[in-house]
Amino acid sequence: MDHFTYQNGELYAEDVPLSAIAKAVGTPVYVYSQATLTRHARVFRDALSAVLPSIHIAFAMKANPNLAVLKVLAGEGYGADIVSGGELERALAAGIPAGDVVFSGVGKGARELTRAVEVGLGQFNLESEEEGVELARIAAAMGRTAVCALRVNPDVDARTHAKISTGKSENKFGVAYHQAAAIYARLSALEGLEMRGLAVHIGSQITDLEPSREAFVKMGALMAELRGAGFTVSHMDLGGGLGVPYRAHEELPGPGDYAAMIAQATSGWDATIMFEPGRVIAGNAGVLLTRVIRVKQSATNTPFVVVDAAMNDLARPAMYDAWHDFAALAPSGERMMANIVGPICESSDTFATARDIDAVQAGDLGAFRTAGAYGATMANTYNSRALVPEVMVSGDKWAVVAQRIEPSVILAAEQVPDWLEQAD
Ligand code: LLP
Repeated sequence: MDHFTYQNGELYAEDVPLSAIAKAVGTPVYVYSQATLTRHARVFRDALSAVLPSIHIAFAMKANPNLAVLKVLAGEGYGADIVSGGELERALAAGIPAGDVVFSGVGKGARELTRAVEVGLGQFNLESEEEGVELARIAAAMGRTAVCALRVNPDVDARTHAKISTGKSENKFGVAYHQAAAIYARLSALEGLEMRGLAVHIGSQITDLEPSREAFVKMGALMAELRGAGFTVSHMDLGGGLGVPYRAHEELPGPGDYAAMIAQATSGWDATIMFEPGRVIAGNAGVLLTRVIRVKQSATNTPFVVVDAAMNDLARPAMYDAWHDFAALAPSGERMMANIVGPICESSDTFATARDIDAVQAGDLGAFRTAGAYGATMANTYNSRALVPEVMVSGDKWAVVAQRIEPSVILAAEQVPDWLEQAD
């Protein structure tokens, strides 16, 4: 459930008409609902804590690293799942304790590892033996111990889009399942590391719980094997990945179904179960507002609705053929068939093809729904467009939480080398 609703024929975020934000800040602009973020954070946590004795939840910051969003989640007791030094600094800036931060990712560099050890990071999810050896060296040299889990690739197909699938053996993530016990044993012997658990994450936008269940059962078997060999496994990180409805009225497994599956798959584990949700918390807590530039006739009967948002602002349709519902902010009740496209000079800059939408004309405002996760964070400035701003709403209040970065600011950061200046 989210707090983007129609009131008197106009789309609102909580108690604020979205058109007011579009007029004041301009478009495109992302708008987040704080009440929705809070609600999702609580529903997810409550579902899991109802069935598991000991849990830890780290928000996968890659889904939405905006500082205000992180503050809201920090206030709900969420830690952070990070994948870079930049995300670490953001998590700390949001007041998330370093001890509640989990560091994932196949390419953690020496500087990032050093900084993470220095701040007392909660858990490193090692993606390879090589990374563990390097971290052990860094931590030991600093006279510290890095707390670690070993990420395992269970070779399970998450049955999601290939580009966001991470648990097949051909994917770059984690160590091979059949090598994991031996690697865990070797890393446990290293000074500078405290191996305390296993981690797994098989993919994102998962809408069928069976592959996850299969992966977790495999992880349970590995945990038992390691414990049988005398190693400590007190923490099991089951990653993120739970999918969200991108279409109105789509029925998907929710946090309650997910928790029931987890309770069954982890029964008798006697471990702290860790989670790294991203999309399920932030996805439906955000929309991308846009204005129709013009409606252009096409060679077919389906016109192009050209909007001022583009693939640089919301990359998901171009990258993953993702569906985002489109809604007029003040629908007339009429419908039209349209292709919704942005101004960027490539055909992949298409949000919807031959879709039945609210009828719109030049100047009308609309919203792409479910844009709170992997939206603003994946934006760029392709075609020398501005970096899209972000707004947070809470009740009848709203504030810009990330400014629009104008092309002039980006241009000002560029320099022409002196040999080119001298050329004329
Ligand atoms: N943990 C790890 C180790 C991950 O790699 C990810 C996502 C998550 C947690 C969070 O997954 P979530 O709960 O959000 O599904 N840009 C793509 C999604 C990429 C997901 C990458 N990893 C998209 O727009 O669909």
